[in-house]
Amino acid sequence: MSGEVYPVPAAVKKKALIDDATYKTWYQQSVDDPEGFWSKHGQRIDWFKPYTKVKNTSFTGKVAIKWFEDGVTNVSYNCIDRHLEKRGDQVAIIWEGDNPYDDKKITYRELHDEVCRLANAMKARGVKKGDRVTLYLPMIPEAAYAMLACARIGAVHSIVFGGFSPDALADRIVGCESSFVITADEGLRGGKKVPLKHNVDLAVEVAEREGVEVDTVMVVRRTAGKIEWFSDRDVWYHEAVSEQKPECKPARMKAEDPLFILYTSGSTGKPKGVLHTTGGYLVYASMTHQYVFDCQDGDIYWCTADVGWVTGHSYIVYGPLCNGATTLMFEGVPSYPDASRFWDVVDKHKVTIFYTAPTAIRALMGAGVSFVNRTSRKTLRLLGSVGEPINPEAWEWYYNVVGEKKCPIVDTWWQTETGGIMITPLPGATKLKPGSATRPFFGIQPQLVDNEGQVHSETVAEGNLCIVDSWPGQMRTVYGDHERFIQTYFSTYKGKYFTGDGCKRDADGYYWITGRVDDVINVSGHRMGTAEVESALVSHDSVSEAAVVGYPHEVKGQGIYCYVTLMGGYDGDDGLRKALVQHVRQEIGPIASPDKIQFAPGLPKTRSGKIMRRILRKIAEDDFGSLGDTSTLADPSVVDDLIENRQNKT
Ligand code: PRX
Repeated sequence: MSGEVYPVPAAVKKKALIDDATYKTWYQQSVDDPEGFWSKHGQRIDWFKPYTKVKNTSFTGKVAIKWFEDGVTNVSYNCIDRHLEKRGDQVAIIWEGDNPYDDKKITYRELHDEVCRLANAMKARGVKKGDRVTLYLPMIPEAAYAMLACARIGAVHSIVFGGFSPDALADRIVGCESSFVITADEGLRGGKKVPLKHNVDLAVEVAEREGVEVDTVMVVRRTAGKIEWFSDRDVWYHEAVSEQKPECKPARMKAEDPLFILYTSGSTGKPKGVLHTTGGYLVYASMTHQYVFDCQDGDIYWCTADVGWVTGHSYIVYGPLCNGATTLMFEGVPSYPDASRFWDVVDKHKVTIFYTAPTAIRALMGAGVSFVNRTSRKTLRLLGSVGEPINPEAWEWYYNVVGEKKCPIVDTWWQTETGGIMITPLPGATKLKPGSATRPFFGIQPQLVDNEGQVHSETVAEGNLCIVDSWPGQMRTVYGDHERFIQTYFSTYKGKYFTGDGCKRDADGYYWITGRVDDVINVSGHRMGTAEVESALVSHDSVSEAAVVGYPHEVKGQGIYCYVTLMGGYDGDDGLRKALVQHVRQEIGPIASPDKIQFAPGLPKTRSGKIMRRILRKIAEDDFGSLGDTSTLADPSVVDDLIENRQNKT
């Protein structure tokens, strides 16, 4: 937590929207008088009917969170229509394809027409306000059109990342009872094809067996690859939109009407459908986008995330478009055709603001500086990081090599549940410390609490990170299971939102996120419940029991380490290891591929049968010298075998 402090560069400070004095004044106002503060900033979006009530939130009892509740608006209107007069011919979306010769620019006016046509096509096929629409799409402009078309007619989108398997997709279709799916024939990433439509076909079958009928699958033609076609159910996107008019009146949406569901992993059970609503979410996403990235007219802003994750929702589509910015959408991967790709795209499209994940930085760092140095990057003025703690070495490489010491880095801490950035530097206001997300955004009141619920209010402190009052971008419920919402986030510490992260605060009041304190691991910035991987493993015929933990991984941040106890008659060999990896990929998707599998005749359990994960984590880290007290184990001898056969021997 020590190390160098990087002051705000004078050139940045001069032009920035928020300086340090403004940050401090606004922050104080936002916590002293949240009503007054948000009443003012809620007006940053257009309302068909202005709100008179601002904040009506409670973190106790049934936990009810309402912002701007009597206001009426529409997200698509705010992201498109209101810009048309001034910015109709400005580029809204720059699309960069997987192939470096493939790109496209879409103006706000074109965006309007595309979104309206699709909205009409969806309406014509029976999609109504409140219906859930599943999107399983590559990073193509149609993904943004589909999100905005749903918002336009009041349908609720649920995006499933293209790297999830048919089974995982089916779970999410069933979870929100979605009868309309939009996909593409195939995705294209790093020159490789992803069989999206085929996966949808399989998922729809599974969903049907579970009682959820998908009546329409709309298919974008991306590669023109061969696919199966079910003419009573499937419809080509281009055919459906071609017969529609480019005008569609935006639906009048109440501030608390649902905007989207996004499934995310927790420490127990199946992924939860995080529900975000309309008004507060948009106010918070757009405000954080403007101030955290200091986004101003003329900026070309690029967030490298996928729209399958919350970062893509808030900071590729909703935040930037609500602000009338130019947002870049990238279909490919950082290593294709080679490790210069990010910087080539920066030069090609004159990107000024660049937002990515530490795992990408570490991978590119490993490829060597020549891939960076052969590019100019002279348009860059700001860099951002999100998804996991950024280690100081990666931070410094990003700062020195990519930004050539000119660009501040905003290390932004937030979550699917928070809707937008929560702890972050503001480029014109905050001195930087590599590895620290620094200070809370307006309206965010962090608290560090120990396992006994004791609040550590002294400046220098450490504990579990909680947020004590609501902010407009907060999730409202777990879709269809409000009790789970209360249990997961508000029961550990009464009256507080518990983030699941550990955190330290230093003498300057800066926050340093130390990582998850629950059984959630963060693999290449993708969040995964160890329980999900365990249940995928035990569904294989050979496995009787499995325990999964994370371990430090040079590029991915955390790797997936699996301890597997086999059924009698199976041999733990490399063939079976491969089969199990394949099985988990099939159950969840390639993002959940186990990195290490250790066959273990027994797992360390307490006498009451609880697996002691602390021990398993230590062994996976190859740090078995400090296993701590093992005397409460039912059979302490299993530990010797686990150490002997560990897979991470150094
Ligand atoms: O552990 C934190 C980590 O990512 C988790 C949230 O994951 P997800 O909901 O998938 O959202 C990722 C993108 C917002 C958090 O609980 N995390 C995210 N950003 C940071 C981070 N950890 C440290 N520093 C960050 N900047």
